[in-house]
Amino acid sequence: MYRIGIAFLLILAFSCQKTTDSICDSGKELRDVAPFPIGTTEDGVVFNWQKAQGSRYFNRISSENILKMENLAPRRDSFNFWPCSWLSREAKNAGYQYLHIHPVIWHRQLPYWLANYPKNQLKNFLTDYCRQFKKAILLAESIQTTGIDVVNEALNEDGTLRSSIWMQGIGKEYILEAYRIFSELDPQYKLFYNDYNLALNPAKLDAALDLCDWLRSQGVRVDGIGMQMHINLQEPSSSDIADAFAKITNRGYLLHVSELDISINPYGKANAATSDLLDKQADKFVEVIELYRHIPAHYQYGVTVWGISDRNSWIPGEFNRFDAPLLFDQNNDKKPAYCSFLNALNQ
Ligand code: XIL
Repeated sequence: MYRIGIAFLLILAFSCQKTTDSICDSGKELRDVAPFPIGTTEDGVVFNWQKAQGSRYFNRISSENILKMENLAPRRDSFNFWPCSWLSREAKNAGYQYLHIHPVIWHRQLPYWLANYPKNQLKNFLTDYCRQFKKAILLAESIQTTGIDVVNEALNEDGTLRSSIWMQGIGKEYILEAYRIFSELDPQYKLFYNDYNLALNPAKLDAALDLCDWLRSQGVRVDGIGMQMHINLQEPSSSDIADAFAKITNRGYLLHVSELDISINPYGKANAATSDLLDKQADKFVEVIELYRHIPAHYQYGVTVWGISDRNSWIPGEFNRFDAPLLFDQNNDKKPAYCSFLNALNQ
């Protein structure tokens, strides 16, 4: 009787066991299956409760805010590069493998005092800042730095150069100067130009590629293009993304999908993440990964999702609307997109 009972229980347990037909039930996470580095960012919340969270899923971290100029040059008379080594050490302790440095020269999140800085001294300042930043990166190696966004968002939508403080004070040469200094680094540090709307706007992408070709023609190193990819469910289309990926790699540049998030509410009309929207979002994440997997492997620098959970996404604050653009929800639970993303990486 006792034996029959045990056998019955075993049969019951076996027949109730969920079939592991999907990688999502396997215990494997993104970093375990991705054929290229898979990144995120979490210093937007300064490594609080998420500290040990992200590295379970992702193996590379991009600096979201901590390495922006307002933090590294808070006072006019001195630099403060300790966040470089701090981030590298914290990321190592948290279990990350690689670091991507973002950004060196940008037109936002600048120190307040820079607005009144004498224009004719800006070039010297930029040179000094880039040199010191480069040294700080070399000193900060708790984990391997794989790449650097040397210049971020230098272009307007029509492909002309943005009239930033750098452009006004120095001219186009500011870009050349920044890459010139970072070109002195060992080639293991990949140098990127990073910008948004590059798949949506072919004129902007062409301008970015021309800019990088021009830099190369001037004898400096630019290894790749970072496509931010703050996109939404509809735009850019699959064929626009494919075209952009092909253009970049055909011109001989590494490709970093550098700040991926997928808005489910770009026009501010929704106020909840319905299952329909979440399924569409999952499909769009898959679309991006499938297209990325098809570019030649030696151009795949990796894919970085811009944050871990919807709770910490920059989108709602920046655009003042409800949104849920990431792979984990407000409670830090996996969304449908996570499993789809994992599956797409595992093909
Ligand atoms: C964003 C951060 O995520 C926010 O926390 C911050 O308030 C503003 O900057 N393009 C970039 C990133 O290159 O640095 C931006 O990050 C998002 C847009």
